[in-house]
Amino acid sequence: MSFFTEAGSEAAVLARLAECRNPRLTQVMTSAVHHLHAFVKEVEPSMEEWMQAIQFLTRTGQICDDKRQEWILLSDTLGVSMLVETINHRATAGATEQTVLGPFHVTGAPVLPLGSNICRDGKGAPCVVRGRVLGVDGQPIAGALLDVWQTSEDGFYDIQQPGIQPEGNLRGRFHSAADGSYWFVTVKPCSYPIPTDGPVGALLAGMGRHPYRPAHIHLIASAEGFEPVTTHIFVKGDPYLESDAVFGVKESLIREFVEVADPAAAAPWGVTAPFWTTEFDVRLKPAAAPAS
Ligand code: BEZ
Ligand code: FE
Repeated sequence: MSFFTEAGSEAAVLARLAECRNPRLTQVMTSAVHHLHAFVKEVEPSMEEWMQAIQFLTRTGQICDDKRQEWILLSDTLGVSMLVETINHRATAGATEQTVLGPFHVTGAPVLPLGSNICRDGKGAPCVVRGRVLGVDGQPIAGALLDVWQTSEDGFYDIQQPGIQPEGNLRGRFHSAADGSYWFVTVKPCSYPIPTDGPVGALLAGMGRHPYRPAHIHLIASAEGFEPVTTHIFVKGDPYLESDAVFGVKESLIREFVEVADPAAAAPWGVTAPFWTTEFDVRLKPAAAPAS
């Protein structure tokens, strides 16, 4: 008979996987048990520390609801979301890089004519975003769908401030034109803190980390026959580009935002000067052939 010992802890638990009939679950649990036992042996938590950890995990679950996902926030702030994202969307030469979706995407934003203004609260500095949707071969993609969203100039998404911001503020979907071009009006994005009123915020503060994300516009681009891409446009010069709380920045996604003072340049976009503008081409890779 063999009983549980400190030295044999991992082997004791792994022996109980012998009857598992799911090879992927066996692989995942073998690795999880291996790393967890190694972690505990390295850290040697006291009983009080172990209980603190249990309470942290309990609070993380308890604060979640249909609008708040603290587990994703934990994964984001530990770099795990970006690691999973990067492994699953390894860079393809010439294609726009992927980054985190984040918890504030809303499906079914209104489809708007090109050039529409998605700002519904009248706050912030107007900003014209334009570019083209192309294949990795440089061919324009007509009718691609661009789903865009961002925070207000106060640093909150509309769904974080019901009753304060108009519903659907700073969200919209656009179809690219026949030559692959797209353009819309928004406000210049600002850097903002991820939610800090839960256990993840307390953990960040405990680690001496700030909660800020650098200014960005979220974008999902999709088109028939191509792989969709979930990405951001980041603002060059933002002070948080190198310390994004969720590790989402990729150099290829950083763009210059230029301020334009000339009223004649503003008129064609339906904005008043001064306004900001940036250009961001999206390059999609062809969809993988269906497995036969
Ligand atoms: C966001 O950019 O919306 C976001 C991403 C990850 C965590 C929190 C917010
Ligand atoms: Fe965001």
